[in-house]
Amino acid sequence: MTMWGKEFMAQDIEKVLLSEEEIAKRVQELGDQISADYEGKELIVICVLKGASIFFADLCRSISVHMKMDFMGISSYGDAQKTSGIVKITKDTDTSITGKDVLIVEDIMDSGYTLTYLIKMLKDRQPNSVKVACLLDKPSRREVEITPDYTGFVVPNEFVVGFGLDYAGKYRNLPYIGVLKPEVYSN
Ligand code: IMP
Ligand code: MG
Repeated sequence: MTMWGKEFMAQDIEKVLLSEEEIAKRVQELGDQISADYEGKELIVICVLKGASIFFADLCRSISVHMKMDFMGISSYGDAQKTSGIVKITKDTDTSITGKDVLIVEDIMDSGYTLTYLIKMLKDRQPNSVKVACLLDKPSRREVEITPDYTGFVVPNEFVVGFGLDYAGKYRNLPYIGVLKPEVYSN
């Protein structure tokens, strides 16, 4: 693809970590696994905004059993690259999850604080089960003991963007997952 101008997003990417094709293939595998595991259950798939939105849209379309969608807005990061451990709910679900089988869909598990908090909060509402699907897992950064039930890819300790993941709110629309050039941070 030709790139014009200094504003072109892909010019800020040092390397592609996961291509569109690799992601699509893995998401379909996760969808198949989830479909098998939740057959006959009352599945509610919750998208954690905004990072999970792209993964969520693809994952839901690869699930072949009945399910309902819901959305939660949280903020734990601000514009910084490191977690604060403080999770703020900016938008809650609007369907009742009591007695239902909940699958939380998140972009990445890093320290693990965000999902630990969310799982606890949702379990208080007495669902039948709560599980987590993460597109990416960065286990080297974990600060609390938690592992996703469904993981797309384990990634090294590098700050990645694209396919929903952002740096300072940008790069979410990049169709693949890449590592940013260091000069992007220092500018
Ligand atoms: P945790 O609470 O530390 O597990 O934070 C998870 C959240 O941190 C994710 O939902 C992302 O918003 C953000 N995050 C962690 N690592 C990255 C990364 O490499 N790129 C972009 N966002 C990240
Ligand atoms: Mg996020």
